[in-house]
Amino acid sequence: MKLKDCYNFHDFRTLARRRLPAPIYNYIDGAADDEKSHRRNTISFDACDLVPNVLRGVKDIDMSVTVMGQKLEMPIYCSPTALQRLFHHEGERAVASAAEKFGTMFGVSSLGTVSLQEVRKHSNPQVYQFYFHKDRGLNNAMMSDAKKAGVEVMMLTVDTITGGNRERDLRSGFSIPFSLSPAGILQFVLKPMWAFNYVTHEKFSLPQLDKYIDMDDGAVSISRYITEMLDPSLDWNDVEKMVSTWDGEFCLKGIMSVEDARKAVDIGCTGIVISNHGGRQLDGSRSPFDQLDEIVNAVGDKIDVIMDSGIQRGSHVLKALSLGAKAVGGGRFYLYPLAVAGQAGVERALELMRMEIERDMCLMGCNSIHDLSPENLRFR
Ligand SMILES: Cc1cc2nc3c(=O)[nH]c(=O)nc-3n(C[C@H](O)[C@H](O)[C@H](O)COP(=O)(O)O)c2cc1C
Repeated sequence: MKLKDCYNFHDFRTLARRRLPAPIYNYIDGAADDEKSHRRNTISFDACDLVPNVLRGVKDIDMSVTVMGQKLEMPIYCSPTALQRLFHHEGERAVASAAEKFGTMFGVSSLGTVSLQEVRKHSNPQVYQFYFHKDRGLNNAMMSDAKKAGVEVMMLTVDTITGGNRERDLRSGFSIPFSLSPAGILQFVLKPMWAFNYVTHEKFSLPQLDKYIDMDDGAVSISRYITEMLDPSLDWNDVEKMVSTWDGEFCLKGIMSVEDARKAVDIGCTGIVISNHGGRQLDGSRSPFDQLDEIVNAVGDKIDVIMDSGIQRGSHVLKALSLGAKAVGGGRFYLYPLAVAGQAGVERALELMRMEIERDMCLMGCNSIHDLSPENLRFR
């Protein structure tokens, strides 16, 4: 099976599993505890069906959306994800370039492996995903660097106050730096091509953090970063100050309740991402799609509501937009393709997604995203 044989999420996932050492594949594929929320995230889209209209004279389909002041040529963007150069040596460079080609937004993680300044050279809108540190001076310095680099949207992740229990990673010993179990080491030996690419390309680093945090001998410890530097006492007052310091498009990622969505409006956020982190944090939490309707009804006219988690198909995108999401994000839908073939893989994933959305809009009788509404959906 090759890239050209991949037609959907499942094909990319199968090929990524073949190409990546198992500990890395499982880091992407895995989720928290029993992975129930992870599974529910996608299944929840089956709770309703699209109701098409016909004979609407569909031509020149326009799937562009405007979210948090950014025009996106397609309504799905690449959510921020950590450690991308571990998945493929092109890492964030591949994702930023592919997203630029398709005119959509991409997120750079605080745990990204290419600097936000380097990827900012692309012309498409860029999100910087931020973790809140105990050191307020450090937060301000990082925000100021992002502002100077020209980042359009600040996205504070609020569902990682502590790490999720990812048992696949515990079993394989996946961590940064690697401290693999013997079985985990064997999995790397079995994928020599990945190992060859890893050692023959630029040394692994976390440039968003390197500048600020003294890492022993250059060995980056993510767990040390999370436990020692991030602030578990983060509250709404802290975020309100951060929103005012940033003074621009500011979004909270990981909102799940109506109460929190209302607070986000009150403190001046311009967007929220309803997300359970792809099921990687609180297992048993509700799926974002299940939660979308009540949050849109409460705050949809006051703030841009976005959702991520579980999106695999164009029809999932259209269901979320029909319920009032302004755009959607996805992680694994571009990470498996990245692992499979770098930029070419991400481009193929975006192209297939674009074609699915276009075809489905055509079949739904929609010329533009504005034609979608809850009227297009029936819950079973
Ligand atoms: C491998 C991986 C790494 C991730 N890293 C981050 C991160 O650094 N920061 C963050 O806010 N979210 C991170 N996420 C969550 C994504 O931004 C997004 O919420 C999630 O992938 C959506 O679910 P989906 O993969 O089902 O589309 C990560 C997700 C994955 C799969």
